[in-house]
Amino acid sequence: MKLGVCYYPEHWPQERWPLDAKLIRQAGISLVRIAEFAWAVMEPRAGEYSWNWLDQAIEVLAAEGLQIILGTPTASPPPWLCRAHPDILPVDVQGRRLRYGSRRHYCANNASYHQHTQRIVTAMASRYGNHPAVIGWQIDNEFGCHGTARCYCDTCATSFRHWIEEKYETIDDLNHAWGTIFWSQIYGDWDDIEPPNLTPAEPNPSHVLDYYRFCSDTYLSYQQLQLTTLRALITDGQFVTTNFMSQFTDLDYHDLGAPIDFVTMSSYPTGHAELKPSLYMPHSDRPSLAYDVGDPYITGFGHMLMRGFKPKHPFWVMEQQCGNVNWGTYNTGVRPGTIRLWTWQALASGAEAVVYFRWRAGLYAQEQFHSGLLCHDGSLAVGYHDLEAMSAERSLMAEIATAPHVAQIAFLLDYEALWALQLQPHHRDFDYMRLLFVYYRALQQLGLLADIVSVDADLSGYKIVIAPTAFLVTEELPACLKTFAEAGGTVLLGVRSGFKTINNQVTDQPLPGVFRDLTGITVTDWHSLPPGTSYDLNSSIPGLMGPATVWAEALIPGISDSQSNDTDLQVLAHYTSGAFESFAALTEHKVMAGRVLYLSWHPNGPQAETLLTHLVAQAGILPLATVPDGLVVSRRGPHIILLNFTEEPLDATVQGQTVEVGSRDVKVVTINGS
Ligand code: GAL
Ligand code: ZN
Repeated sequence: MKLGVCYYPEHWPQERWPLDAKLIRQAGISLVRIAEFAWAVMEPRAGEYSWNWLDQAIEVLAAEGLQIILGTPTASPPPWLCRAHPDILPVDVQGRRLRYGSRRHYCANNASYHQHTQRIVTAMASRYGNHPAVIGWQIDNEFGCHGTARCYCDTCATSFRHWIEEKYETIDDLNHAWGTIFWSQIYGDWDDIEPPNLTPAEPNPSHVLDYYRFCSDTYLSYQQLQLTTLRALITDGQFVTTNFMSQFTDLDYHDLGAPIDFVTMSSYPTGHAELKPSLYMPHSDRPSLAYDVGDPYITGFGHMLMRGFKPKHPFWVMEQQCGNVNWGTYNTGVRPGTIRLWTWQALASGAEAVVYFRWRAGLYAQEQFHSGLLCHDGSLAVGYHDLEAMSAERSLMAEIATAPHVAQIAFLLDYEALWALQLQPHHRDFDYMRLLFVYYRALQQLGLLADIVSVDADLSGYKIVIAPTAFLVTEELPACLKTFAEAGGTVLLGVRSGFKTINNQVTDQPLPGVFRDLTGITVTDWHSLPPGTSYDLNSSIPGLMGPATVWAEALIPGISDSQSNDTDLQVLAHYTSGAFESFAALTEHKVMAGRVLYLSWHPNGPQAETLLTHLVAQAGILPLATVPDGLVVSRRGPHIILLNFTEEPLDATVQGQTVEVGSRDVKVVTINGS
């Protein structure tokens, strides 16, 4: 597996570069990402380029045999550019024009910005598009970071009008799709339509969902502008990618992943575990995770997401935490061994390369408190020592990096459904990603791998497909799940499925709407359950029991217009208390060779585990290992990889054998003959 590092030569005296390059090579690193924030150094004044420093930096790195990934510098337009074209600066949801002075201060729809983007990317690609040491390009840096995915400026308002006009063709169709008769907001003309911010009461959710789609499409076009410019000038041997964030949902990463060569991500385990614990429901009692490793299940969830943004392509970690971050709540320091563990987890999850952020802790500006592989004074930091310690296992890592990561279970992820639920969650704790995470965490506990794919992905390689909530659906999804089930697959459909049409209106059909035929049931009522309220239930599945919390739906067998004489429908659980007492809670519908289950409540971790244990046994999927909490298992090719994130040694059982894994340590069990 290749290792890399993010390096900022422009932050350090040129005399230092040769030593840095040498130390980088000596750490076993072969990739270096540079220049993604260096526009003002490449072009100090309009049209006045300065390439000498970058030529030199590349030469010094190449002299040590290092391979370069060049970032296009568009995440941080220089002040001279913003002053010349103040309309480049974005407007936030509060209607405030943002200032330069940090980064990501641009509107991705701005025509001047497009021109200047094309200019700087052309200049870079013309100069380095054939350079033998440059192996690839990263477009921009973390589109949408710092809440910048959605701009509300006048340019965006105009572009949005074009976007909706193209989509709806007539204003009547738009009025109909959005339901603008409500609160008397019928539009007479495209020019009546504004971005959906700054309204006294909440804006129309169909309008907002279209704005979210439009903003995501905006970045897709902006990425395409750079991609086309690059591809016209660089050699075939250079790849083009961009870097995604692991806990970010404002842009449709399936769309953005499709045109680039492969997906890369940022992975900051302690930052994410500290920063957004509320995104995820605690599974059960937290295991005694080591204090400096983050939450490996959240980290692994991020890796799983990346695998699905460009299926059948390996992903890279383009920024891997290698010490403390500076943007968390506490910014935990890390001990020897942690960076090795994170690197192994990325590898185990399917990564092909891991690039550490950053080389040396910076002396000035915003990220002074961020660590690197070197300390501020240039001495070797804990991460560097971890790399040295990994040298003995690098050949095994290289072998594993080429082995496939294969899962038999898939989750469906649909950004439009996710956004629609963000807009109208109807319950404080109803969160699309959190619900997915409950199932993912349960599978991890059971020693099972999963992928997370888009609703139009090829499902044929999977045995089980889980749609935790297919809340807003296209007409195609039921047909596609039907084909999957007919061929012998198991589909698990969760609460609130089939509720919304593609326009973000409620279906006028009995629930679960378009899924009625497939599930063979009718949802007669649904309740949002505030904390402290729950409905009990019992099930014929061993160990599956209540309470149902957060959300519950009452099910009856049969689709309401034809009374239930469907012998293919089995009720697997009933409510035993509360408003839905004696209604069905979990059903299974036989669909030719396969089955479709409907789960009518928001499961907690143990419930998800019990249900999935039952389903995987039926589907003939074998766990990789039996693992306790805090011991994560994955598989690539014949290699079963066990990662212990706790302070204690832990035992796994792999194919009947006990395998002990030390605290914050890794064990690889290679299975013969497979
Ligand atoms: C990333 C970003 C990097 C750096 C890093 C700090 O989100 O891409 O430039 O800021 O965070 O952890
Ligand atoms: Zn804008």
